[in-house]
Amino acid sequence: MLTLDPKKLPIHLAIIMDGNGRWAQERMLKRIVGHRKGVETVRYVVEESSLLGIKYLTLFAFSSENWLRPKTEVRSLMALLKRYLARETSRMMSNNIRFNVIGDREELPEDVNAAVQEAVEKTAGNSGMTLTLALSYGARREILRAVARLASDAASGKIAADEISESLFAGYLYTAGIPDPDLLIRTSGEMRLSNFLLWQIAYSELYFTEVNWPDFGREEFYRALAAYQSRERRYGLISDQVRKRR
Ligand code: FPP
Repeated sequence: MLTLDPKKLPIHLAIIMDGNGRWAQERMLKRIVGHRKGVETVRYVVEESSLLGIKYLTLFAFSSENWLRPKTEVRSLMALLKRYLARETSRMMSNNIRFNVIGDREELPEDVNAAVQEAVEKTAGNSGMTLTLALSYGARREILRAVARLASDAASGKIAADEISESLFAGYLYTAGIPDPDLLIRTSGEMRLSNFLLWQIAYSELYFTEVNWPDFGREEFYRALAAYQSRERRYGLISDQVRKRR
């Protein structure tokens, strides 16, 4: 079994959970069955990440483009989400997890948004891992929204053009206050970013696996973390400089 160095775990882990539909179709099952299995993986990864001491876990649960899927699938995903929140909030409380959402929340059905709000409020005082679900999320929209808000603050004289830095800009994103992901995992063999956290992953390590999300269990999770631990993050420097900085 793989062993991990607890000192070299990602502080922020982001995951594009992909392949629920294919997992189901390969088994001649309905796509929603794959999503239901996917929720079990969510439960495992959340619990394990929190036990490992990962401080931030961000999961891409529903993209701004996913609204275009067949209505029945969108409805089922929203129902799953609502049920997940209803069931898991007490677990989040016992695991000291703070729940957070990024994305255009106002596009969610009212009852789902209310459930989200309740979970955010209930867990707001927790100090362990921050679990962020990206819901109705798209990175380009997030960046445009940030630019618009920044422009309005500049127009009203709240900030001057020469004050605009990377960190000031990052404060206008949904992820304000959350460090950038150290590791981004995508399941199901697709090698693209699909409009996820485009600003924030500038220096993230990327890890792709063929395994579909419902099959992403302990073995695969530890393999991804071990791969991350074996990488050298240079941030544009050369190896010698990185070693001297340590
Ligand atoms: C990708 O599979 C997955 C999604 C679109 C959403 C992920 C959703 C869940 C894991 C369930 C709900 C989440 C929570 C947190 C309760 P896909 O449908 O794109 O798979 P495919 O590419 O094989 O069709």
